[in-house]
Amino acid sequence: MTDTVRLEYDGKVFELPVVVGSEGEKAIDISKLRQETGLITLDYGLANTGSCYSEITFMNGEKGVLRYRGIPVEQLAEQSTFKEVAYLLINGDLPTREQLNHFSILLNDHSLVHEDMRAFYQNFPRASHPMGILSGMVNALRSFYPELQNMEEEINMTMTRLLSKVRTMAAMSYKISRGHRVVYPRPDLAYSANFLNMMFDNPVRPYVIDPDVVSALNVFWILHADHEQNCSTSAVRIVGSGRVTLYAAISAGIAALWGPLHGGANQAVVEMLQEIRRSGGDIKPFLARARDKNDPYRLMGFGHRVYKTYDPRAKIMKKMCDRLLEKLQLHDPLLDIAKELEEVALNDDYFIEHNLYPNVDFYSGIVLRTIGIPTNMFTVMFAIGRLPGWIAQWKESMDDPHWKLCRPRQIYTGPTVRDYVPLDQRGR
Ligand code: ACO
Repeated sequence: MTDTVRLEYDGKVFELPVVVGSEGEKAIDISKLRQETGLITLDYGLANTGSCYSEITFMNGEKGVLRYRGIPVEQLAEQSTFKEVAYLLINGDLPTREQLNHFSILLNDHSLVHEDMRAFYQNFPRASHPMGILSGMVNALRSFYPELQNMEEEINMTMTRLLSKVRTMAAMSYKISRGHRVVYPRPDLAYSANFLNMMFDNPVRPYVIDPDVVSALNVFWILHADHEQNCSTSAVRIVGSGRVTLYAAISAGIAALWGPLHGGANQAVVEMLQEIRRSGGDIKPFLARARDKNDPYRLMGFGHRVYKTYDPRAKIMKKMCDRLLEKLQLHDPLLDIAKELEEVALNDDYFIEHNLYPNVDFYSGIVLRTIGIPTNMFTVMFAIGRLPGWIAQWKESMDDPHWKLCRPRQIYTGPTVRDYVPLDQRGR
């Protein structure tokens, strides 16, 4: 097996090294390409470009495999908690009991948000989307927590602060948007239960914590915890490569996640299912639009840049959705539409030819609805889940000996040199 690739260009042969990952994935190392050949590569959407070495998450899009630090996501969803998974992603190994206890204490100690932040929240226009607010507020956190003396201490402290405070801030933004009293975090509640309590407890109707709902939220967050170099994680790494603070890098990740082609798809799926329901429940016109080459319409929650088979997270999410609705003895008509849509799409030539399968967002919105989360908070829920992944990836990039400022090139196609024309000499 050759460990170089030969490139013949302009009468010369160049040898480019091939690098191999621990799961056998291969890449051509082109880091000296421009220097040696004068060429750059062009790769829209960076679909063929590896931007880093990473030890955090492995996914195989053809086989539908997803592992965090080597552990299959199915095992983590079944046996772990979100807090433990956050620790695993950031530190590389599952915590011992003692490490987990220490981590819980830190998360509890940092769960409060500076009271002055409330003023910011209160002054956003009522119609603001919570993702815009969260992105802005995470960046603003830096002003409330100025630099510490020791870099290592600062990084650890910032990571813990973010994990704990973003959850508090998300619940706070919901409460303020409804004009309700903010509920403070409670030291006796674990991570997910605490969030639910901050969201839904109120003086006239105390929130009763249901362990089935807590475990559903845990699984939801575990499934979203990392997904290697996706759009928002790449945003975190690229923005982070300018050596901004972790707050600024995470704020960029939140902004990137907001898009409907990325994390915003969970909100878009439920809106699509609601639209189908409102229009009488017939899925055919929606499928026809998705198949039509001249119509930009897409079936939300279908397709993925990497998965060319069923997204393993969607499988777990679908099962969990059924289990949760059954346990709570609820029926959601949107789930019936989703299942019908999935069945028809999976047997449809267009979707088969294009390898379009349900992704994580297809069933996640129904899970969130069942928990009681309002639609405009869905992507915020994704952001809380993705936070450990963003932090782990940012930390890895900070420690990477190959680190470089991210600065892609381009092929310029604009006008060649031309003279400036004074205003009075330009046409009307
Ligand atoms: N419905 C209909 N057609 C689709 C869909 C869809 N959901 N997704 C892709 N296609 C078609 C495209 O029209 C294109 O067709 P063509 O080759 O005939 O022109 C082909 O499949 C390839 O599409 P691309 O956009 O090039 O594929 P890419 O890998 O860039 O897309 C993406 C991935 C953006 C996720 C896409 O599948 C999509 O838009 N899905 C809907 C939004 C969604 O669910 N996003 C969440 C993704 S998961 C996440 O980010 C957490």
